[in-house]
Amino acid sequence: MAKYECNHHMKQFLNELPKCEHHLHLEGTLEPNLLFPLAKRNNIKLPSNFPKTVEELNERYKQFKDLQDFLDYYYIGCNVLINEEDFFDLAWAYFTKAHQDGTWHSETFFDPQSHTERGIKIETVVNGFKRASLKAQQEYGMSTNLIMCLLRHLPSNDGLKTIDSATEFLKDGSIKALGLDSAEKPFPPELFINCYSKVKEINPDLELTAHAGEEGDSNYVITALDELKVTRIDHGVNSIQDPKLMERLASEKTMLTICPLSNVKLNVVKDVSEIPLNEFLDAQVPFSLNSDDPAYFGGYILDNYITVHTRFGWSLETWVKVAKNGVEGSWISKERKIEINNAIDETYNKFKPLV
Ligand code: ADE
Ligand code: ZN
Repeated sequence: MAKYECNHHMKQFLNELPKCEHHLHLEGTLEPNLLFPLAKRNNIKLPSNFPKTVEELNERYKQFKDLQDFLDYYYIGCNVLINEEDFFDLAWAYFTKAHQDGTWHSETFFDPQSHTERGIKIETVVNGFKRASLKAQQEYGMSTNLIMCLLRHLPSNDGLKTIDSATEFLKDGSIKALGLDSAEKPFPPELFINCYSKVKEINPDLELTAHAGEEGDSNYVITALDELKVTRIDHGVNSIQDPKLMERLASEKTMLTICPLSNVKLNVVKDVSEIPLNEFLDAQVPFSLNSDDPAYFGGYILDNYITVHTRFGWSLETWVKVAKNGVEGSWISKERKIEINNAIDETYNKFKPLV
């Protein structure tokens, strides 16, 4: 279905273009070739009908029916993560790949409940991820933020307990934001109003986001904005169903964190060309492009950028706009935004005569 060529210079440009990633589940970076060794290292018995080899598992990952079918595998994968070192190894492998792909800033989700419900301490999870984030800052010059997600298929009371256990990290900024993920239907955002207001009581500076409008319709996006007071929407592709909402997202500069390859793998769309990216651009609805769960969906951030190019054939100028929208929507300082934007301009000037 590729309509446009992504030639060598264009690939190089997309690689060197400084990118910000805002929708990346650290647990979703668990590659099969790490999953099996970790299961062995930690003596975890995988279900009897679970694929037995890396190849078989990768093959199964090509056939997800929908979000829930994927989540069933994702949560089995989570079970092999036990020690702080496992969480560190997982995140460090991701940051290394993200750096190779030209990522300058990364805001990473994690799901504490998928670990604490197995008896793992939240400190084990957060400290492993924090150590890897710090190393990415020191060795790769990346800026990073951790976003704690609540699982919406669990009761909000469980979410409140999780928030309580994370108080220290929410207060000291180790966790920058609250998010909401897992099965979207039938768990609308308003079920979690108490959790979203609770984190703001703990630290008014915390940022808020939520998955909405991936399998749920545009009303999920509206209730996330109105009831949870989020300032960013994860996925949000179904916002296109409501022109008034589109106007609102544009005027309030609410960024959508779009995940092209994920949308195809989970059958939200048949092909990346169906994602209304040009409509979002025309309506000035800001969005960033992200990999979501790259180990499960067949590609990291650069793969997503390249696939989008083969479907949309954007000019360098449009790519610069998309990259700068991602910078603007990032939860980083003004100075860091200027730094990344200057590097985007430099990359543009380098490639303009070549592409
Ligand atoms: N958890 C991990 N990836 C997810 C996604 N794309 N949607 C909802 N929950 C998730
Ligand atoms: Zn997601």
